[in-house]
Amino acid sequence: MADVKGRVAVLSGDGIGPEVMEATLQVAEAVENSHGFKLEWKKGLVGGAGIDAKGKALPEETLELCKSSTAVLFGSVGGPKWESLPPNEQPERAALLPLRKIFGLYANLRPAVLYPELAGCSPLRPERVAGGFDVLVVRELTGGLYFGQPKETVKKGAGERAVDTMAYETHEIERVTEVAFRAAAGRKKKVTLVDKANVLESSLLWRKTVKALAARHPGIALDFIYVDNAAMQLVRDPGRFDVLLCENLFGDILSDEAAAVAGSLGMLPSASLGQGTFGLYEPAGGSAPDIAGKGIANPIAQILSLALMLEMSFGQPTAAGAIRSAVAGVIRDGWRTADIAAPGEKSRSTREIAGEIARRVASGSGKR
Ligand code: IPM
Ligand code: MN
Repeated sequence: MADVKGRVAVLSGDGIGPEVMEATLQVAEAVENSHGFKLEWKKGLVGGAGIDAKGKALPEETLELCKSSTAVLFGSVGGPKWESLPPNEQPERAALLPLRKIFGLYANLRPAVLYPELAGCSPLRPERVAGGFDVLVVRELTGGLYFGQPKETVKKGAGERAVDTMAYETHEIERVTEVAFRAAAGRKKKVTLVDKANVLESSLLWRKTVKALAARHPGIALDFIYVDNAAMQLVRDPGRFDVLLCENLFGDILSDEAAAVAGSLGMLPSASLGQGTFGLYEPAGGSAPDIAGKGIANPIAQILSLALMLEMSFGQPTAAGAIRSAVAGVIRDGWRTADIAAPGEKSRSTREIAGEIARRVASGSGKR
């Protein structure tokens, strides 16, 4: 038995969360059996499910469960039912943002990968994405406009004045930049810092800090791009990028854009990491209430989030690789959920896709 121990907090949340999580746990079981380890999987309520059952999007017992776990496998939260709540109580803000802050998850990795076989799913013209692409957005997650102080609305004259603050300190930039350089080392060895250094003070500090750190990573090419230009280049030629390093809001926006050009939100995982091995892993897409409960959601984003978790929080790159190969295999062999099926093409259910991935992982045809 491989020496892998630990507990996973399984927070399915709302919308398609529970069904894609159930499908993912089937793959988890297959990978445990085929790779000889066993983790402890413990479920907790979060998001709208937490509000309905406990009155809070992040109930105390869920937070305790996360604190006693090695990693959190997160589904998705939110939906129309909770949209009329005050902004601070809504599932997205009241569950995700505190989890990021409490656990110091300052680095958010969002790979946007277009498999060549799915080039037709991208809204970009085929010649721009013919060979597929693989861009990694590394987003700073606990600073910038999301958390900077002051953050308030006050009465002013006949109206009000609202302020958010984009503040960064050197150490906050350094730690996420290290993550970006390390990620690039295992990829195409290129980091592009996205900023607005022609206007923003904080961007000047980003440039200075990232440049200084680059000296420690001589094998990595570094360049800079203004965020408006980056938004444009992502739809012109996404394949020109390797790692995009972004402050919090820029990364929020550009990672959605990168996901969109990659064809389906249903395929993209993400990892939120801090200082140690603890991490929170979640699909890039949302809770998709419109298709929830129908059994047609694409489980691949959640399954690839499991792979990221096994690699980054449990040190199991081989198990992660087996899952990724199985996913690439089912895509290559034409297995499609409705979101990625071509018009007229047969589409499969959440369970069928996950079952096939689990089967390949178990039989070792996912290993390579
Ligand atoms: C994301 C989401 C969140 C964010 C929202 C739901 C608070 O858009 O994870 O990208 O803005 O960070
Ligand atoms: Mn977002």
